[in-house]
Amino acid sequence: MSAARQPEYRIDPQFTERWSPRAFTGEALDFGTLLTILEAARWAPSGSNLQPWRFIYGLRGTPAFEPLLATLAESNRVWARQAGALVLVLSRTQRVVPGKEEPQPITSHAFDAGAAWMSLALQAQALGWHAHAMGGFDRAVARESLGIPADHALHAVVALGRRGEASLLPPALQEREQPNARLPLAALVAEGKFGFEG
Ligand SMILES: Cc1cc2nc3c(=O)[nH]c(=O)nc-3n(C[C@H](O)[C@H](O)[C@H](O)COP(=O)(O)O)c2cc1C
Repeated sequence: MSAARQPEYRIDPQFTERWSPRAFTGEALDFGTLLTILEAARWAPSGSNLQPWRFIYGLRGTPAFEPLLATLAESNRVWARQAGALVLVLSRTQRVVPGKEEPQPITSHAFDAGAAWMSLALQAQALGWHAHAMGGFDRAVARESLGIPADHALHAVVALGRRGEASLLPPALQEREQPNARLPLAALVAEGKFGFEG
């Protein structure tokens, strides 16, 4: 791993080895591997075990791929079109509670969907694929074209792909095609009350 990816404390290498490349070979992801990756997401923890995450997928070379691709910002579409599959991560924001007339909010839906996305990414990495989440997509277009109801939040479109050479990318993106670093742990952690370095 690169110098940027050295942990301050020894951890399982899966955490530093996972990263989000953009150079994908164009190899299609097979359905079985996709299901294995989503199976990992299914086992994420969630508030009250409500499992609010949902996934809408399109495998490369199938009719479901293009509508997902079309939701992406151009800056993402330029490289994500080479992905083996695209997966939209969404979550239910409300639930019906017995005895209550109105649907009740699922307060942890975004937190839970984030946990599921990470499980998905780590499982993809373990299988020799890479996952790259994108917040840069048109949520209104996705909601309309994919038929997503108002009580579901749209979080990210994830490109799943087999990593290729950086030379596959436009020149501006080639320079960025490397694992990045992290803030120091001291900037993220405080004892007892709010107070962070930096
Ligand atoms: C919610 C979310 C949205 C993101 N949106 C984009 C995006 O629109 N385009 C992009 O190229 N990368 C996007 N990324 C990738 C991040 O830039 C990347 O995860 C971050 O720089 C850390 O790098 P790493 O994943 O390689 O460790 C997104 C990541 C997340 C989790």
